[in-house]
Amino acid sequence: MKKALVTGSAGLIGSEATKFLIGKGFIVVGIDNNMRQYFFGEEASTEWNKTRLQNEYAEKYVHNNVDIRNNDEIEKIFKEHTFELIIHTAAQPSHDWAAKEPFTDFSVNANGTLVLLENFKKYSPTATFIFTSTNKVYGDTPNKLPLVELDKRFEIDQSHPFKDGIDETMSIDNTKHSLFGASKVAADILVQEYGKYFNLNTGVFRGGCLTGPNHSGTQLHGFLSYLVKCIVTSKEYTIFGYKGKQVRDNIHSFDLVNMFWHYHNNPKQGEVYNVGGARNSNISMLEAIEKIENITGKKANYKYVDKNREGDHIWYVSDVSKFKKDYPEWNFTYDIDMILEEICKSQLK
Ligand SMILES: NC(=O)c1ccc[n+]([C@@H]2O[C@H](COP(=O)([O-])OP(=O)(O)OC[C@H]3O[C@@H](n4cnc5c(N)ncnc54)[C@H](O)[C@@H]3O)[C@@H](O)[C@H]2O)c1
Repeated sequence: MKKALVTGSAGLIGSEATKFLIGKGFIVVGIDNNMRQYFFGEEASTEWNKTRLQNEYAEKYVHNNVDIRNNDEIEKIFKEHTFELIIHTAAQPSHDWAAKEPFTDFSVNANGTLVLLENFKKYSPTATFIFTSTNKVYGDTPNKLPLVELDKRFEIDQSHPFKDGIDETMSIDNTKHSLFGASKVAADILVQEYGKYFNLNTGVFRGGCLTGPNHSGTQLHGFLSYLVKCIVTSKEYTIFGYKGKQVRDNIHSFDLVNMFWHYHNNPKQGEVYNVGGARNSNISMLEAIEKIENITGKKANYKYVDKNREGDHIWYVSDVSKFKKDYPEWNFTYDIDMILEEICKSQLK
């Protein structure tokens, strides 16, 4: 039977990839040590999602409670299985958390990726290796775009070439990345290099906001999931700066994993794609609060702090046209309203 390796398999994207690939007839070997709980505390634990996968998929899902930085343990997994596809999503995912423990952040995001790449090259070199990178590799350069302030959101000046979204030509140099952005840049470049230098099938997907009902949302990561959680439970939510008009594009985890699948069926070595909700699915903080209030019938309890997070984007919308050009059969199946409906429904249960 075909086998796939999914790192971070109990997380949002990893669990969606696991479900998707089992549906395509794969055995999925998962790696997740619930480090998300170490990063963000009990409410962010992904233990529940691991148990769900084990219950739903039984022997089709093989869990490994292993740290991706542990080369000996990772090598054992690669010696035992030959993979057709590797989806690497395990990470320290927060911009703000990284400054707290730079060694931990860098070793998980950069060194952990290198451990996986080396074992992939040595034991499953014909596999496709997919890496979930981030738009933070562009640092705060998006904040230098000409923006216009509207009633509930910032928007890009419509005469700018990025009016349909930010594409892969944006420079990753000379910008404030945050330490998280820096560790992801290191991994992003490493993954490209295993494609370009070693001629392996590696793909880099630079995400905007990735979302869906299986996110273990918390203040430092998983914006829509955490916002819905706060509104549904009447917990106070804090908006940091930009008058709540900051815009994020949000892609549903299914649509992203479906991109990975299209890429796997015709991989381009060391290629980089910006991926996100694009013009199809983007929202400001104030717009999101209003929509969630309408769906749930509950009033948000939020406070505004007039200081933005260090280097936080004011407006970020991805241009996914490079991916669409290379893989014309892929398209979005979720827009922002469908995403919000689904997250609210799952949290109102
Ligand atoms: N969610 C977003 O908005 C977003 C945006 C851009 C990029 N990304 C990237 O996409 C990827 C997936 O994001 P997500 O939202 O699914 O994250 P997530 O936190 O939900 O899932 C990641 C999983 O990896 C596990 N993990 C962390 N460190 C580990 C380690 N050392 N060894 C083994 N397992 C470990 C965690 O326990 C967690 O379950 C990450 O690489 C993230 O940087 C996410």
